[in-house]
Parts: sequence; structure tokens; C-alpha cells
Amino acid sequence: MALAGSVALPVQAADAVTTSMEEISAQPKAKDAHYFTPRDLSKIPDGAFGDKIRRGYQLFVNTQQLKGRYLGNQLNCTNCHLDAGTKAYAAPMWAAYLAYPAFRKKDNRVNNFAERIQGCFNYSMNGKAPELGSPELVAMSAYSYWLLMGGLLDMYGMQDKPVPELSDAELQRGGRDESFVLPGPLADRVKMEGRERMPGRAFAALPAPPQAYSPQRGQQVYTEHCAICHGEQGEGRRMADVPVIPALWGGESYNWGAGMHRVNTAATFIYENMPLGKSVQLNVQQAWDVAAYMNSRERPQDPRFKGDVASTAKDFHASDQGYYGQTLDGAVLGSRAYPAGVQP
Ligand code: HEC
Ligand code: HEC
Repeated sequence: MALAGSVALPVQAADAVTTSMEEISAQPKAKDAHYFTPRDLSKIPDGAFGDKIRRGYQLFVNTQQLKGRYLGNQLNCTNCHLDAGTKAYAAPMWAAYLAYPAFRKKDNRVNNFAERIQGCFNYSMNGKAPELGSPELVAMSAYSYWLLMGGLLDMYGMQDKPVPELSDAELQRGGRDESFVLPGPLADRVKMEGRERMPGRAFAALPAPPQAYSPQRGQQVYTEHCAICHGEQGEGRRMADVPVIPALWGGESYNWGAGMHRVNTAATFIYENMPLGKSVQLNVQQAWDVAAYMNSRERPQDPRFKGDVASTAKDFHASDQGYYGQTLDGAVLGSRAYPAGVQP
């Protein structure tokens, strides 16, 4: 598969970015909870509908095939939404699908599922999202829908029942809608109330750190537990020019508008999922400290940037737990943000 790494992204006006990353509150984790299991990928059906689902999976795990067109960094969706978007507490797609459409106070309107994906293209992938109705958004929505619906059918004893086919418009809408098709007994089981709270959705709540988090202490944690994979400069790792370990900061990482730039969101993700393979379990303090270190390094500019960091910080970062616009070691973070696609 050819990687179009050198193709420049279309320049994006600040007002063209309509969706943004709304903070999803982390859920307390039940110790022995049994989480939802999606249907095995080998069960994706043959035919046109199955092809759409397979295409969505393929885009999710190798999003780099869209580099330069819709995304500007070296990440793939699965780098954060682990195990191809199936892992509980790594913002799994099955739980997300059932949570949209959702009303967002921020822009005072309802966002459907595909619009939420657009948010991750604009911020997490530092790109310019595909249009609603595009084959890419339809395919990724179809994949997410299939993960959810296949798992629900299995859960209620309908292992042999195929996942009902939906139109492209229905696929992009999401499952939190009266019109969402729920076959057989599912109609009584999957109540509207609570669809946005499937156990395992988003991230597991993490207690506050015993001491205020510190980038300095975080640097030590980073050197000891992260640099071996993610690199001394957070640059990640490539093999045969294919990114194999994602960048954590610098020009090839998520931008200053992404959900992961918040220290609290990153801390919960890291505590639960890193170091990959969990050779060690970081303690709560270490997770917060290393998240603070990682998120106090420069990264691509917030696409809502209006020409100066102070007003962008005031408009979009006033209440988030991030470093954008703050002064650290004599430098204002965001003032030396990378333009899209520039290597660290
Ligand atoms: C750098 C990490 C990262 C990458 C890469 C990423 N995301 Fe996300 N995504 C997040 C975070 C963090 C959230 C939760 C946002 C929040 O709480 O602010 C999220 C939320 C979502 C949600 C909503 C989840 C829910 O439960 O409401 C969807 C859908 C989604 N992402 C899809 C995608 C897709 C599709 C891609 C690839 C095109 C992608 N993401 C790439 C970090 C990432
Ligand atoms: C054994 C190698 C390894 C170690 C050690 C490791 N990671 Fe990762 N990390 C990965 C890989 C690989 C991914 C992508 C996972 C995937 O695609 O399934 C990842 C993903 C991430 C992500 C989300 C993607 C992104 O670029 O933002 C963050 C954040 C992260 N790691 C932080 C850390 C931190 C902090 C540490 C140290 C506490 C750490 N990692 C240790 C291999 C590692």
C-alpha cells in the first residue's frame, strides 16, 4: 500500500472545524465486571455490506493509507482505540456507537456518530476529516455498528442471526436513536435510557494523584518505562518507513485540540493500557506525572488557532486540564506548535 507521506494537507480555516473533542467523563471500573464481546471478525459476512465493514476495519487499523488526504500525522485509529477499537476502557467503538447521536452543549446541537469520527480526524489525526457520506466515514461507521450489533445478538442467544443491513445514512447516525433497528428481544433489552453508558465505554476513572502532577518527575517515568518504544524525543518508531510505534509529541503526533492532550484523559489511558503489554503497572502518581510530561511537549497547532495562542487558549482551553497556553521552562506552549505534517 503506497503511503503518500509528502503530500501536503489542504489548509484549513479555523471556522471550518465544526466538531471538537468533547470530554467524556471517565467511568469507575468494576473489578470483576464482564465486558461486552464483539463478534469475531471472521464472522463478517460476504457481499457488499460485509465489504463495507471490512473496509472500515482496514481503515481503522491502517489509517495511514489516507495520509496527506485526510490526516497529517503518523497515527492510526487503533493506536488509541486499542485492539482495533474493541478493547474496553480504550474508548471502544461498540460502546461509542450506541452513545450517538448525542447532544453537545459546546456547539448546541446534536452530533451523530460519523461527526464524532470527524472530530478524531481533525484533532487526534491532525487532519481534515472526510465529508459526511464519504465511503470512508460510511465504512468506519459500518465497522463500529457491526461490532456492536454482532455482540448484542450473541449476548442474547442469536448467534446465528446476521447483523441487519442498514443504509449509509442510518450507519452514520449511530444507535442512540428511536429509529435504530433492534431485532427480536433486543428491542426490550436495549433501552434508550443508559445507551451512552455501556460498561467499558471511553476510559476508566483514575483517582487524583497523591501529589500535584509534575512533568519533571514524569520525565523520569518516561525514560524508564516509555522511551524504549516511543523514542527519547517521543517520535515513535518506523520500520521500512511504516510507523509501528506511534509518536507521543512533535509534528507527527496528535494536535493541541485532541482529547489526548488533556493530562487527565492521557493519565487514565496510560494507567490502563501502557506500557503496552503491561510488563509493569505504573502507580497512580506515575501515570499522572508521565501524562503531564508527554503533554507539556510541543505538538501540532490547535486547528481552531486564530493567530495567537492566548486567545485560542482562552476560547478553547479555559477549562481543560492541558498545557496549551501555559508557560513552562520559560516558553509558552503552543507558541512553537508544529505546522501539519512537519517531522519533529
Ligand atoms: C491520539 C489518540 C486517538 C486517535 C489516534 C484517535 N482517537 Fe478517537 N478518541 C480519542 C480520545 C481521547 C477520545 C475521547 C475524547 C474525550 O474524552 O475527549 C476519542 C473518542 C472517539 C470517539 C467517541 C467515543 C465515545 O465513546 O464517545 C470515536 C467514535 C472515535 N474517537 C473515533 C476515532 C477514529 C475513527 C479514529 C481514526 C480516524 C480515531 N478516533 C483516532 C483518541 C484518539
Ligand atoms: C513495548 C513498547 C511500548 C512501551 C514500553 C510503551 N508504549 Fe505506548 N504504545 C505502544 C504501541 C505499539 C502503541 C500503539 C498501540 C496499538 O496500535 O495497538 C502505543 C500507544 C500509546 C499511546 C496512544 C497513541 C499516541 O501516540 O498517543 C500513548 C499516549 C502511549 N502509548 C503512551 C505511553 C507511555 C506514557 C508509556 C510509558 C509509561 C508507554 N506508552 C510505553 C508501545 C509502547
